[in-house]
Amino acid sequence: MNRRAQFLEVLGIPAEWVPRRLAEASVEVETKVEVATVAVAEVEVEVAMPAPAAPPRSVVIEALSPQPAVQDEAALARDAAIAAMDWAALEAAVAQCTACGLSDSRTNTVLGVGDRRAEWMLVGEAPGENEDLQGEPFVGQAGKLLDNMLGALGLARDRNVFIANVLKCRPPGNRNPEPEEVAHCEPFLRRQIALIRPKVIVVLGRFAAQSLLRSTTPIGKLRGTVHQYEGIPVVVTYHPAYLLRTLTDKARAWEDLCLAREVHDRAGAEA
Ligand code: URA
Repeated sequence: MNRRAQFLEVLGIPAEWVPRRLAEASVEVETKVEVATVAVAEVEVEVAMPAPAAPPRSVVIEALSPQPAVQDEAALARDAAIAAMDWAALEAAVAQCTACGLSDSRTNTVLGVGDRRAEWMLVGEAPGENEDLQGEPFVGQAGKLLDNMLGALGLARDRNVFIANVLKCRPPGNRNPEPEEVAHCEPFLRRQIALIRPKVIVVLGRFAAQSLLRSTTPIGKLRGTVHQYEGIPVVVTYHPAYLLRTLTDKARAWEDLCLAREVHDRAGAEA
């Protein structure tokens, strides 16, 4: 085990990705392949990763309508009210929401966490048990991995990224969200995105990706393409909880984050 892996194990951090550009500023020669050490429990694997400064690639922009085809009048009025809210009103509306049955079983609503003027936004599926108890997204093991992934990009939830979920309340027993729950909750997320206006949205996992993009395409096919949500570029990657179980897809997730960084940097250059 190398020194970095030992160090991380002592810290109790299961995995850390550090782009060479950030970790070894003194290295002058750019290589085509990035090697990161991924240490989880007893397993240590060397994963080949693409260099963060990969040459620009052409990206297909897919525009998908976030608007449902049919909505009744009450739902339209509720959507319009939410679409006009500032952060204080939005926070209060989420905290008091009883639009679906999830309000009966929740401990806390989970609005989101981070910089409300961040250029990066991450969107997960729904709070789990720990998130429901603490009122903050991604606070369990998957959250630790997510924080490490963000750290590799120079991002941190308390500094320069905003993290939210499609659903603001926990589905009991962590079951999959119901379409009706998503329909009631989506206006909150849409308003959050409109208030933050991030340069890039990274969507975590199949469920969040398919909900946000109104798609039934499998996640493997949604990855690698830059989608759009209300004019904001969206990059899809695997859910960190899935990555904890599937080490081999960490390299793919790293590719996705590199694509997101490319999209972010390009948006910055055009601004
Ligand atoms: N999984 C999610 O998608 N979101 C959370 O906040 C926690 C786990």
